[in-house]
Amino acid sequence: MMTWIIRNGTLITAAETFSADILIEGETIAAIGKHLPAPENARLMDASGLYILPGGVDVHCHFDLPMFGTVSSDDHYTGHKAAAFGGTTTVIDFISQDDPSLPACVEAWHNRVGGKAAVDYGFHMNITHLYEHTLEELPDLLNAGISSIKVFTAYNNRLRLSDGEIFRVMRVAGRHGLLTLLHAENGDVIDTLTADALASGHTSPIWHARTRPAWGAVEAVLRGAALAAQAEAPLYVVHMNAAGEVDQLAYVRERGLPIMGETCPQYLFFTEDALTRPDGAKWVCSPPLRTASDQQRLWEGLKDGTLQVVATDHCPFFYNGTRPILYEGQPVSIPGKELGQDDFTRIPNGLPGVGDRLPILWTYGVGSGRLTPNQFVALTATNPARIFGLYPRKGTLLPGADADLVLWDPKKRLTYGVDHAHHRTDYNLYEGWELTGYPVRVFLRGNLIVDEEKWLGKRGQGRFLHRNPFEGRV
Ligand code: URP
Ligand code: ZN
Ligand code: ZN
Repeated sequence: MMTWIIRNGTLITAAETFSADILIEGETIAAIGKHLPAPENARLMDASGLYILPGGVDVHCHFDLPMFGTVSSDDHYTGHKAAAFGGTTTVIDFISQDDPSLPACVEAWHNRVGGKAAVDYGFHMNITHLYEHTLEELPDLLNAGISSIKVFTAYNNRLRLSDGEIFRVMRVAGRHGLLTLLHAENGDVIDTLTADALASGHTSPIWHARTRPAWGAVEAVLRGAALAAQAEAPLYVVHMNAAGEVDQLAYVRERGLPIMGETCPQYLFFTEDALTRPDGAKWVCSPPLRTASDQQRLWEGLKDGTLQVVATDHCPFFYNGTRPILYEGQPVSIPGKELGQDDFTRIPNGLPGVGDRLPILWTYGVGSGRLTPNQFVALTATNPARIFGLYPRKGTLLPGADADLVLWDPKKRLTYGVDHAHHRTDYNLYEGWELTGYPVRVFLRGNLIVDEEKWLGKRGQGRFLHRNPFEGRV
């Protein structure tokens, strides 16, 4: 059992900022305090001039996800490693409902992870088909350590459930402590606009956004919230992107409903203008990027507590999947965005982000004065851990918690890009962005897994997290 004493750091939690030493014994934090006596066998780390944050918790990731004849290019090792370099030590990924039996789906996803996990991880279960027995199987997800499910109001004939089906799923979920996640868009409108666009010969990436209007997202948020209210179930709206969505969330929260929301860095830092660039396919994700006024409302929502979480929806694809990159010294290429070069509907949907989230949000959220350091920790670690049944084991700095720590150098400056990000893809959305403040050392359950540019983590070191039932709104 390894013992560490980390001296002279400035600890940042969701609630406070203070100077203290941290004693780690084995996998957990044993003590936090000033001038802690060092046990004889302790390894010493000096954190003078550094902040110490709880490891980031990214509750929205897609690793090794099959889509449009290819697969998202980070698997459960490469994506975990990228997460760790960016200061994130817990990730939650989505199980596809590829089999009529939910237990079989869960087993298949554990097999997909295999021995690859390098940080701690959990699963959400996508509910995209309602078979006779699906409702009966839902409560058993909790025994499998899965306390959340995702439903979709878009992707007709593929992932979408009808409103009636969503209501029935939510009713069972609510009774058993399962939290329902909602992908809010209007699948019928999208299908009609997409058919019209293709018939008119519109094939470029901007049409991905033009065929998925914000109004569809806005009404789907209110529809989902109303269904949840009638089902007496809690709800968490993923990847919120439009001003009107935040308005709807504020409306339902003012009425005391247990409804929460997440946004992602891509919606805070880019607009649909990115899709008009020659390499616009890099920014194709669903829901799409919106406008500057949508961004402004999202920032307000983060500041005033209407939104609780910044996650990533990490789902990377190569920009040019015919040209190999070197990953850990080996050439790798995976078909990607080029699949849709003649037709926006064939561009795999999704962006890299799991490693970018904390460094980008620090410089352009905290550094720009939009968020306090404590709000940053709340949005990226503490709130997601609470909402998804992981707190206080994850998401905070407390004796007894897992020793998942990020030592953060607030003075470190760098020009960010694909070389820093460690994602297994050939581009980065934030190429050339100037950063001040960066994670320099990362601990996962007391193991130092990132030391500056050195990767000390291992395949198989990450552990599956049995999450607790939903306890109440944040
Ligand atoms: O474009 C995205 N976001 N791909 C991942 C799937 C989803 O709906 O979250
Ligand atoms: Zn989604
Ligand atoms: Zn997603």
